[in-house]
Amino acid sequence: MKADILLGLQWGDEGKGKIVDVLTPRYDIIARFQGGPNAGHTIEFDQKKFILHTIPSGIFNASTINVVGNGVIIDPFIFNRELDMLKASGIHAENNLMLSKKAHLILPSHRLLDAAYESAKGKAKIGSTLKGIGPTYTDKTARNGIRMGNILRDDFLKRYRDLKEKHLQILKAYEMDLENHELDGLKFKTYEEKWFDALDRMKSIRIIDSEYFINQSLNSGKSLLAEGAQGTMLDVDFGTYPYVTSSNTVTAGVCTGLGIPPHQVGEVLGIFKAYCTRVGSGPFPTELDNTEGQKLRDEGHEFGSTTGRPRRCGWLDLVALKYAVMINGVTRLYMMKADVLNSFAMIKVGTSYYLNNEKIDYVPFEASYEKLKPEWLELEGWHTNINEIRNEKDVPKALDRYVKYIEKQTGVPVSMISVGPDRSQIIHRS
Ligand code: IMP
Repeated sequence: MKADILLGLQWGDEGKGKIVDVLTPRYDIIARFQGGPNAGHTIEFDQKKFILHTIPSGIFNASTINVVGNGVIIDPFIFNRELDMLKASGIHAENNLMLSKKAHLILPSHRLLDAAYESAKGKAKIGSTLKGIGPTYTDKTARNGIRMGNILRDDFLKRYRDLKEKHLQILKAYEMDLENHELDGLKFKTYEEKWFDALDRMKSIRIIDSEYFINQSLNSGKSLLAEGAQGTMLDVDFGTYPYVTSSNTVTAGVCTGLGIPPHQVGEVLGIFKAYCTRVGSGPFPTELDNTEGQKLRDEGHEFGSTTGRPRRCGWLDLVALKYAVMINGVTRLYMMKADVLNSFAMIKVGTSYYLNNEKIDYVPFEASYEKLKPEWLELEGWHTNINEIRNEKDVPKALDRYVKYIEKQTGVPVSMISVGPDRSQIIHRS
């Protein structure tokens, strides 16, 4: 079998968790391939709401295996909290969860480094989630990192102490009150103790050579969905660098983050919101710094699921969407949060950019440094409540026109429209 991929085409928070959860019954395995607890995948059903940071969104289906791949980075403290949250709802995640031996660990001192680097950046700060993502991936590529498989080995404590010591040496160059700096409301020492307790608990989960498990599963006919985190415009290579995360969030990341060869990639499912949001700093050409933006934030409850920060909101950026379709080889589009636009009489779409008065229809290198002004196209809104619609025949004409316009521009079919946060609020399109 070929592996399908589901990923975000914008700046994250597109609603990937909901769609993975909806699609899970069709797959034997759900596997995360990059990112870490900077992600916050929200899943709602039976009036319950769950936010997953590291555990794949297939965990609610007891017969699906969930794999945390080698490309993911894991903070045991946060992971443990997730296990507890699931357990409180009767879900014993340990039963159908596997962790790659090659996934790197986020140490408490990685989080200190993240905070120190961010505050030293001053006005140029990235707006990091401060979960230690950048420093952990830095240690991975600098060949200093500690991996899940190392926790089972005798020299683990020595490795931990050596790496922590390295971090403390670096931190001496920053004015940081290490004793009193809080991580998730805890002093460093307490956090570190809980981190070690959590690590012990993780030993009860299957820690495997995930690349063998995945390839053997695919070769024996098992189906797999790779679950992306963040979004294409936050990719470390193709996003709005340096205002990006530290991993490859795009299709290519599946090959390195799970060990799946390129010819084994099947469908690429691209998730995008009917409008755009971004949390943290960095370019956002179609951003609305006005009452319309505020209305999108209010109607869409656009506050970060990991940090609680208000998200920046704007209209759909078609140039960026087409770029993401190209980079990822998207074969199907899923449009999320269409219902958030219910009360808008008019909807706008950014169709091209002006860079220094020159009209362009691509995402330029300069996007990271120069302000791009969008050219707008105005479309009629549907101006009606679509939350209860389930059948494509009942889709209002204006929404149908909006979707068809996006299909024509991207050359990719929109297979699903999401009309609310619940698992059931989906319109399938043939
Ligand atoms: P980091 O990945 O925590 O270092 O954050 C780098 C940038 O990516 C910041 O602007 C974050 O707000 C953004 N970011 C990281 N993870 C997510 C996510 O899951 N959704 C949306 N933005 C994210």
